[in-house]
Amino acid sequence: MTPDKTIPPQPQEIRTERLILRRWRQEDFEPFRAMNADPEVTRFFMGTFSAEQSDASAGRLMGSAETARLGAWAVEVPGEAPFIGFAGCWPTRQELPFAPAIEIGWRLAKPFWGRGYAPEAARAALADAFARTGVSEILAYATPLNEPSLRVMQKLGMTYSPGEDFEHFMFEDGHRNRRHVVYRITAEQFRRVQAA
Ligand SMILES: CC(C)(COP(=O)(O)OP(=O)(O)OC[C@H]1O[C@@H](n2cnc3c(N)ncnc32)[C@H](O)[C@@H]1OP(=O)(O)O)[C@@H](O)C(=O)NCCC(=O)NCCS
Repeated sequence: MTPDKTIPPQPQEIRTERLILRRWRQEDFEPFRAMNADPEVTRFFMGTFSAEQSDASAGRLMGSAETARLGAWAVEVPGEAPFIGFAGCWPTRQELPFAPAIEIGWRLAKPFWGRGYAPEAARAALADAFARTGVSEILAYATPLNEPSLRVMQKLGMTYSPGEDFEHFMFEDGHRNRRHVVYRITAEQFRRVQAA
């Protein structure tokens, strides 16, 4: 399902126990450049991002929120850090084998790893996307080497989707990060996980 203009716009922000998920600001571009230039943050991607690539990527993440009513949220730790990365849902690129679909993704700066922030932010983003868009299922994908990201999927109650492994078109043949696995969660499964 691809969200359209009949879907209510994203709220200005969502607050969780420890985080604020909010619309992106111009000031977020600089710390986003810094995290995308960190080879540890990008070790499961194609490489580090140049400043231009980082800005373009931020622009796409923000843009999708405006046009499709879904997009990645900038994540803030109130009183500690105004921008630690992003988490959120957006329409999958047409080139991917499971499109059209809604996917969820996340990326945080290294000093903020290991505190459960990605699952906390992603849980709020899933709740918002399911409630506001009426989409019945949301997926995530990563190279199977990216254990931290797979752990986030599992913590959200997402499950591996057998038979959907794929070669990501953006990685060249033979690249170690090219193979990807897909995890999925339905709105019903998410409700059950939340209620447990
Ligand atoms: C994936 C990511 C968002 C996880 O965020 P997070 O807030 O650290 O998530 P959690 O605190 O729940 O930790 C998830 C797992 O990360 C791993 N992890 C935690 N701290 C870590 C650290 N300092 N260094 C390396 N891995 C770590 C652990 O395996 C952990 O699982 P566990 O809690 O069962 O031990 C974060 O690692 C990240 O931004 N990575 C780089 C970008 C990326 O790969 N994005 C996903 C693309 S598909």
